[in-house]
Amino acid sequence: MDWGMKNRLSRIIRPDGRTVMLAVDHGYFLGPTTGLEDAEKTIRPLVSYADALMPTRGVLRASVDPSTDTPIVLRVSGGNSILGELSDEGITVSMEDALRMNVSAVALSVYVGSPNEKQTLLNLARLVDEGTRFGIPVLAVTAVGKDMARDSRYLALCCRIAAELGAHFVKTYYCEGFEKIVKTCPVPLVMAGGKKLPEYEALELTHNAIKRGASGVDMGRNIFQAEDPVAMIQAVSAVVHENASPKKAFDLYNTLKLSKKTSRKKGLKDVTASREEINRH
Ligand code: R5P
Repeated sequence: MDWGMKNRLSRIIRPDGRTVMLAVDHGYFLGPTTGLEDAEKTIRPLVSYADALMPTRGVLRASVDPSTDTPIVLRVSGGNSILGELSDEGITVSMEDALRMNVSAVALSVYVGSPNEKQTLLNLARLVDEGTRFGIPVLAVTAVGKDMARDSRYLALCCRIAAELGAHFVKTYYCEGFEKIVKTCPVPLVMAGGKKLPEYEALELTHNAIKRGASGVDMGRNIFQAEDPVAMIQAVSAVVHENASPKKAFDLYNTLKLSKKTSRKKGLKDVTASREEINRH
């Protein structure tokens, strides 16, 4: 890999080989998603806890503070909506504009087994060509259409094809046999969060994915729809970076949630976890 490509990737996947990406790109086909109605308000308190932020171009420009240090993984595929055929995506941002926004990577979805399989895979190949030209890594998201299975045979197929076409890292769902998907994918793999679960279950899911070889998570709803999103992203981070058990991470979540409530009552500033506090748990 070229130096620029390596440098960008190393800002996203931290020196421990892990990452907590915060996905806030849902609106590109879902419109005003619960928790992202006011994207700026949602992103502002969370962004500094994320190793990378994954927005669309519109949300990045309108709702993310340009002085942020958090690297951006820009969603660059779309053209579809929840009302139509989901797999019918094209590339929505030029590499020139991605560079102008100083992004650290670009992301697009591939829909293997869908009516638009070839189109989305060729989108990926084209994006990898353009990314390679400018040193921008490409994240392939193995999107799953309404009627598609989420089993390890299918997801391993999607991840491997994405890697074969040159994706620098891949995002996929957790399922039984997840370790098989990881083992047969030659590039780092991050787990997509999926629909909102109770906080403990989301931490368990994260723990299982990490234990079975994921390089981290690219999680959205399970963070920004949590009762306390700031506490949740720190608890997820404890699992990903500190190998915290689900129980320890959940204790941390509750401690942070409680301390915030207490400090609000006392009229103090929000209390946030220090690295020592994460270790103590
Ligand atoms: C969906 O295609 C988007 O890429 C989301 O970023 C992705 O689904 C992750 O978000 P969540 O954890 O809410 O599923």
